[in-house]
Amino acid sequence: MAVSKSQALGIALLAFFVTVAVSSDPDPLQDFCIGDLTAVPGVNGFPCTNSSTVTVDDFIYSGIVNSSNTTNINRSGAIFGTVLRFPGLNTLGLSIARLDFLPEGIIPPHTHPRASEMVYVEEGSVYAAIVTADNRLFARVMNRGEVMVIPRGLIHWQMNVGTGNAKIIATLNSQLPGIQFIARSMFGSRPEVPDEVLEKTFFLDEAAINQVRSNFV
Ligand SMILES: *[C@@H]1O[C@H](CO)[C@@H](O)[C@H](O)[C@H]1NC(C)=O
Ligand SMILES: *[C@@H]1O[C@H](CO)[C@@H](O)[C@H](O)[C@H]1NC(C)=O
Ligand SMILES: *[C@@H]1O[C@H](CO)[C@@H](O)[C@H](O)[C@H]1NC(C)=O
Ligand SMILES: *[C@@H]1O[C@H](CO)[C@@H](O)[C@H](O)[C@H]1NC(C)=O
Repeated sequence: MAVSKSQALGIALLAFFVTVAVSSDPDPLQDFCIGDLTAVPGVNGFPCTNSSTVTVDDFIYSGIVNSSNTTNINRSGAIFGTVLRFPGLNTLGLSIARLDFLPEGIIPPHTHPRASEMVYVEEGSVYAAIVTADNRLFARVMNRGEVMVIPRGLIHWQMNVGTGNAKIIATLNSQLPGIQFIARSMFGSRPEVPDEVLEKTFFLDEAAINQVRSNFV
């Protein structure tokens, strides 16, 4: 079948927009651009600091040396190294996080709207899961040294199923991936999602809704 000029243009445009739609952070336009966090961020990150004042410490992040605080209802903690704490990430489309778990601790179901993620189990055993847009659950126990990739935007979680603590290092392909917890978004938003919506969505009565909400005050 012959492809006309206008069909070829259509295919090229489609390919362009599909690529744009599935890409993550845009490519940098310089070798580095240490974010000037005192400046007002533009649509795509921070302006660069003066490159002649850059030092090696702009490329090193010490924020995940220590464990995060796990004394909370989830029995887990997370420390993020996004551009907001590690300005050297500015324009590079990367960030890092450290997740710590007490026994039975969980990072509850959440999504990262702007990044795919790789989680590396450095210590312990975690039940790691992804639920896709067509509602398939992909889940199993991961042990030390294993890595899972979590495609951008999908719901996922990790739960410590070992007898000791667990530790995960996560890298994400955005300097500011965002994190949205499913339960908190629906039951802990401000202002509140109306009862009627929660009743019709989760088939819960008012007492059950208030019980769930009470965990997110
Ligand atoms: C950057 O810093 C250098 C050295 O301090 C200085 O000479 C230069 O004017 C600065 N550039 C800008 C754009 O501020
Ligand atoms: C890690 O913890 C030690 C001991 O509490 C503290 O001295 C050090 O400053 C911490 N390091 C970082 C990077 O937070
Ligand atoms: C951890 O968080 C708990 C609850 O917010 C707090 O009471 C405790 O002081 C924190 N521990 C450390 C070491 O910061
Ligand atoms: C615990 O999990 C909820 C989501 O269910 C989240 O909103 C909250 O920030 C977590 N708490 C801590 C201290 O990590």
